Amino acid sequence: MTFIKYSKIACAVAFACTLGACNLAAVSDTTTDARQAPTVSADKQNPAMDQFINELMAKMTIEEKVGQLNLLSSDWDKTGPSMSADYQQQIKAGKVGSVFNAYTADFTRTLQKVAVEQTRLGIPLLFGYDVIHGHRTIFPISLGEAASWDPAAVKTSARIAAAEASAEGLHWTFAPMLDISRDPRWGRISEGSGEDVFLSSVLAKARVLGFQGDDLYATDTLLACAKHYAAYGQSQAGRDYHSTDMSERELWETYLPPFKATVDAGVGSFMTAFNDLNGVPATANNYLIQDILKQRWGFDGFVVTDYTSINELVPHGLAEDLSHAAQLAINAGVDMDMQGSVYSDYLPELLSQGKVTEQQIDQAVRRILQMKYKLGLFEDPYRYSDNTRQQQQVYKAEYLEAARDVARKSFVLLKNDNKVLPLNAGQSIALIGPLADSKTDMIGSWSAAGDRYTKPVTLREGLQQRLGADAKIYYAKGAGYEFNDTDQSGFAKAIAAAKKADVILLAMGEKWDMTGEAASRVELGFPGTQEALMHELKKLGKPMVLVLMSGRPMTINWANDNLDGILHTWYAGTQGGHAIADVLYGDYNPSGKLPVTFPRHVGQIPIYYNMKSTGRPYEPAGQEQKYRSRYLDSSNLPLYPFGYGLSYTSFAYSAVTLSSAQLSPEGEITASVTLTNTGDRAGEEVVQLYIQDKTGSVTRPVRELKGFEKVQLGAKESKTVQFSIKAADLAFYDLNMNYTAEAGEFNVFIGTDSTTINQASFRLADTVKLHSALVLKQSQSRVTR
Ligand code: BGC
Repeated sequence: MTFIKYSKIACAVAFACTLGACNLAAVSDTTTDARQAPTVSADKQNPAMDQFINELMAKMTIEEKVGQLNLLSSDWDKTGPSMSADYQQQIKAGKVGSVFNAYTADFTRTLQKVAVEQTRLGIPLLFGYDVIHGHRTIFPISLGEAASWDPAAVKTSARIAAAEASAEGLHWTFAPMLDISRDPRWGRISEGSGEDVFLSSVLAKARVLGFQGDDLYATDTLLACAKHYAAYGQSQAGRDYHSTDMSERELWETYLPPFKATVDAGVGSFMTAFNDLNGVPATANNYLIQDILKQRWGFDGFVVTDYTSINELVPHGLAEDLSHAAQLAINAGVDMDMQGSVYSDYLPELLSQGKVTEQQIDQAVRRILQMKYKLGLFEDPYRYSDNTRQQQQVYKAEYLEAARDVARKSFVLLKNDNKVLPLNAGQSIALIGPLADSKTDMIGSWSAAGDRYTKPVTLREGLQQRLGADAKIYYAKGAGYEFNDTDQSGFAKAIAAAKKADVILLAMGEKWDMTGEAASRVELGFPGTQEALMHELKKLGKPMVLVLMSGRPMTINWANDNLDGILHTWYAGTQGGHAIADVLYGDYNPSGKLPVTFPRHVGQIPIYYNMKSTGRPYEPAGQEQKYRSRYLDSSNLPLYPFGYGLSYTSFAYSAVTLSSAQLSPEGEITASVTLTNTGDRAGEEVVQLYIQDKTGSVTRPVRELKGFEKVQLGAKESKTVQFSIKAADLAFYDLNMNYTAEAGEFNVFIGTDSTTINQASFRLADTVKLHSALVLKQSQSRVTR
């Protein structure tokens, strides 16, 4: 029986006991290294490192120091608007400290050789890359991984990504992405863990531990980077790079906790966000970087900008020119400049003008050199660029198997009328849609060095392999999925295929690059002619199942009303086609749950489960009154709520019982339910615990996720699931922004998704103050000239 428990209280134990279950012994073995290396979290005192860096810095000119603050892209990949064609000359001139978008043992070795052998001090380069959901072996997109509600699986994915990427000379990944988002118009919702603070924080920690392992010095781990700091996921109107404006309470309660979770997990770097937060762009935001991150949280790694975001302080209207932008950024605590060359171009002059101090520059340089030291680069600059290891690690069979397993865990069964799924191997299938046989789409956006053209297994290939030579699969692409597709000439072939088959299997959704960066949408329906084709096929009266692929919640009302089955598979990764076939044929019983709410209409956005209730709360369907918080032309309710997902078996919950109806400030109570698998096959259920604080000094959400546990049960088997609740689990930022658990009544809900009404109540006897938030005036961050 698998038993994975997640509540604040159980986190540490769960990580310890689930790592062994990941079948990753081979990966873990290679992390052990003879040297007693400093780890990110255990190195607060490291006199040898301090002495080494002091001596090195004493030799450095100001130009060499500023060079260490400069991160440039190679010409191998393009993740932003401009390229630095002469980056190799700049490395030689000692003007570059780190390079991104460069990988393979050979290429990183070649560039490293220039830095080590041709610059005066021979300081090694740090190589970074966007290894987000796999490096070569691609796992499901991050939002899909979040749908597994399985921190061990998510950690496994990051661990394998690190093993592959580090074998290709990389030291550093620009992940995890921690932006909470409640707006599926924003394409980058696909890169995070969805809408919820608790789930996102648990998975943030899992990813950092997966990438960094417990030893940053080991050559199969990567330095992680918490991004994009902060509040980028709330871009107004879901438009990428747009401004954000929110209360301090919203910032501290919703957007900062996943970042804090990574600091607690020992993350070694942070990336600033593109957005302006309450009037100050994140890259010039003293409050975020100096006050909260470095002082309050004691973060001792380095802070890098996002792509040219120092330069963008000028169009933001904060900086008068690039020199002023450099001054603002260094003043705010930004250590490294990604791709903008603003620090290298302007800091020496700003220093000579007395506008920045050498101490400010030294602090940034020190943080970066410390990380190079911890990675062991001064000892051996080439230790990650190892051709033999590269050949052994990349696309290893066990990594592909793990990718298939994590993919299966990420799928969410949204609808299954009349048990249309699982399919039976004797049925003939019409496989229809632009995503049915597309390798390119299967691995989604930010797919690092993943081969998009030959490696991904399509759904068609997965089905063929599952069903063997006798398979009766009638395939037709049928429809187009570009926004401007109107051509319906493929419909006839699709209809003819459907007429021959017992079941119509649709593979539809969004094209891979419709989500990710710079991929905002105003409509969330099926692009192109896909839905029109579904309407035609429906006329045949045959069972229809949709395999939905997208990187965001879509508005799929017609499909929900008219199709028999819907399985959401996100972008499932290199082994996607096999994983989907596993689930369609019941070799794996789906267990994913939505990490984000699916709206009925774009007009409901932002829509999320833990909103406030208003003074005129919504009345349930059938009892609507006019003067209520509601729409005239739609229900308030989502199409599918947060936490929702079906299984091929069924589960029954007992009533919630509490060990006491009274919680003392230092005490603990246990909330329990008995879960029974009432069906006739084994399955997994994510048991979810939500708590509602009924009254507070400020209004509180209708409920908040506070724990979850993934439980596997055989047919007819039962299991009692327990969560412990302490005062700290009830805390929030009170009227005076003190993090406080206020005395009063609480409701506890335990059930299958965020709408469960299975509830009990208790009382917190006394108020408990945990700590205060650091609330400063942001105007302090302004540097005038
Ligand atoms: C993205 C980051 C990414 C960076 C480097 C930017 O455009 O916002 O998430 O890490 O490019 O590729």
